[in-house]
Amino acid sequence: QYMLVYFGYTWCPDVCPVEVLVMGHVIEILGTVGEQVQPLFITVDPTRDTVSSLAKYAENFHPRLLALTGREDQVAAAAAAYRVYYGKGEVADSRDDYLIDHTDYMYLMGPNGAFLEVFPHGMRPAEVAQSIGQYL
Ligand code: NI
Repeated sequence: QYMLVYFGYTWCPDVCPVEVLVMGHVIEILGTVGEQVQPLFITVDPTRDTVSSLAKYAENFHPRLLALTGREDQVAAAAAAYRVYYGKGEVADSRDDYLIDHTDYMYLMGPNGAFLEVFPHGMRPAEVAQSIGQYL
């Protein structure tokens, strides 16, 4: 399987939902060839994103989207492998209410796990799908 990987968190108010929506559209545009691509969402907020909240989140965006979590050190290791930055941003009045700044790229990985391409925020689903389609 190819993998389309995005790091984010379900509490993200703006950027993540847009990007994950784009991911879903990309998979739809690719159609049957897109079945070779596994879309993955990896949380950078394992404290608040539980397995069940991630499952619900993923399901809302695309039936084939899988959302992954792990211990904090595992999430940190995965992020480091992709050179993804994340860190607590603004802290609001409640301790549970905070934003996390994070890298906002989608990564296309080959079936052997090798990096193929990165898609920055703001690309249209059709553009991303076209780029991915060249590998399939
Ligand atoms: Ni986000």
